[in-house]
Amino acid sequence: MYLLLTALVLLLASCDAQNKSFSPGKVWKDNKGTHINAHGGGILFHDGIYYWFGEHKTEGKAGNKANVGVHCYSSTDLYNWKDEGIALAVHEDTTSLLTKGCVIERPKVIYNENTGKYVMWFHHELKGMGYQAAMTGLAVSDVATGPYTYLKSINPNAGHWPVNYPDSLKNDTTTEASFEKKWTEEWRQAVKDGMFLRRDFERGQMARDMTLFVDTDGTAYHFHASEENQTLHIAQLTDDYLGFSGVYARVLPGDANEAPAIFKRGDKYYMISSGCTGWDPNPARSAVAVHPFGPWLSLGNPARGTEEQVKTTFHSQSTFVLPVDGKKDAFIFMADHWRPNNAIDGRYIWLPVTFEEGKPVLEWHDDWDLRIFKK
Ligand code: DGJ
Repeated sequence: MYLLLTALVLLLASCDAQNKSFSPGKVWKDNKGTHINAHGGGILFHDGIYYWFGEHKTEGKAGNKANVGVHCYSSTDLYNWKDEGIALAVHEDTTSLLTKGCVIERPKVIYNENTGKYVMWFHHELKGMGYQAAMTGLAVSDVATGPYTYLKSINPNAGHWPVNYPDSLKNDTTTEASFEKKWTEEWRQAVKDGMFLRRDFERGQMARDMTLFVDTDGTAYHFHASEENQTLHIAQLTDDYLGFSGVYARVLPGDANEAPAIFKRGDKYYMISSGCTGWDPNPARSAVAVHPFGPWLSLGNPARGTEEQVKTTFHSQSTFVLPVDGKKDAFIFMADHWRPNNAIDGRYIWLPVTFEEGKPVLEWHDDWDLRIFKK
């Protein structure tokens, strides 16, 4: 009898521990009772399971570096997440580019239907080089949760011009040395006109904040902040998703977008992104296009609420927009409330995306669940 009662109490306690809603900004515990550690993350939905991949942070300021790797969690209901462990581990070998103490940010995983491989790309900075390398790293696995094998890091699209870069600018001789001062109107115009694109043409382009997007026809695109974070590049991956095809576009030149998150609603593509202020939050931006290569039309700040909420995007920075399985036009905005001084304590801001006059809108909810989406 005593045993039965204990079992019942334990069962009730475990039911209680189940999350039934999203509470943005609060500690979000996994199945082991530990705050989820998957920052700058993205989600792969495959065979009825959601897999959340993100940066495993550690304590303190130094915890922003990749001391561990990429963490993976799985879920069937989006509220409750099972710790699946480290999907991509940093290397102890100090000669490896992926050595412990490098920077791994914003990892995203997509599944290739033809090869049956899970493909991870991530923003990769080399140990001891700050944010100079601006590379994108590639890792691959036969199993969603990993372990992933690290293959390479590159500056993409070396020797290729963007599809929308005019011939007239390809031989422009303006360089950084042409300017005494940065950030003047003339300097900004030169950046818009591809001064950094031309500089990096031979060695490959810069790739910092990134995301992946697989279109309904299976074509995958790598979106990344390039050209000293001033211009986004949207690059088509090869059919196996393991490389860059060399076909890409420059988007919103000179607008300094970071943290791109992409989704498709009907036949339109939407992007939510941020400005460029390090770990500090800033007003989000949104844009729409009829093709991933654009042209992208700016739609303004999607955040609604108090001045503070609008100015800081609810104190967060976008990382991914997740289409909810089984519901039409239901999207979750996923963002990070960074805590750079104690990186591991970064919080997750998940909010529903609604639409007003064809524009994505974000509003704050202390607590919400998927019933917010009609069907
Ligand atoms: C802003 C980016 O969005 C983050 O991913 C990270 O790179 C920080 N900058 C570092 O300051």
